[in-house]
Amino acid sequence: MAKKFPKLTKLFFFLVLAAMAKLSHCAWENCGVTEETQLTLYFHDYSNGPNATVIPVAGIAGREWNFKQVGSVYVIDEPITEGPERDSPTVGRCQGLFVTASFDGLNSHVVLSIMFTNEAYNGSTLEIQGTSKQFEQTGEVSVVSGTGKFRFVRGYASFKTVFWDEVTTYAILQVDITLRHY
Ligand SMILES: *[C@@H]1O[C@H](CO)[C@@H](O)[C@H](O)[C@H]1NC(C)=O
Ligand SMILES: *[C@@H]1O[C@H](CO)[C@@H](O)[C@H](O)[C@H]1NC(C)=O
Repeated sequence: MAKKFPKLTKLFFFLVLAAMAKLSHCAWENCGVTEETQLTLYFHDYSNGPNATVIPVAGIAGREWNFKQVGSVYVIDEPITEGPERDSPTVGRCQGLFVTASFDGLNSHVVLSIMFTNEAYNGSTLEIQGTSKQFEQTGEVSVVSGTGKFRFVRGYASFKTVFWDEVTTYAILQVDITLRHY
């Protein structure tokens, strides 16, 4: 006949197992302790002319490649500053691509990296992805994660056009980023 563990020993084993499960859960989730960081950045955007920061690189054959034409793909590489002024201190660059992704030409799917070069986050990146209504003044996309100081982060970025000059095609976008991290 198998020898049974005394009741107390069984209870003890159960408690140890429960504690181990809790510990491994905490190592992964940090027991739900998250911090929130808010960043406000300004993107400087030229869509035309010799200093264009947004350049069409592909599209549907035989059709014009422009913002309103579905399938038009743009590469973007533009400066990001601390404040809205163009000579405000540089924080980094926004690099990536976006494509007009809806047949009505209104939505743009963006895949962007914020490459930080400022003292606080030098060498770290935030990875942004989402679809936005490109002709509206505001929009929101996901921050899917990041690297360096932003490993494992998640969040969202709200875009707002705060300045637009049609002649020079110069736009300033205010980007409010909310991040959760451990
Ligand atoms: C392009 O950039 C150069 C160098 O910063 C500047 O001198 C020039 O005025 C700019 N051109 C336009 C059209 O903004
Ligand atoms: C950022 O890092 C690069 C390469 O490590 C370095 O050359 C540069 O001076 C750093 N910039 C700041 C603002 O710390």
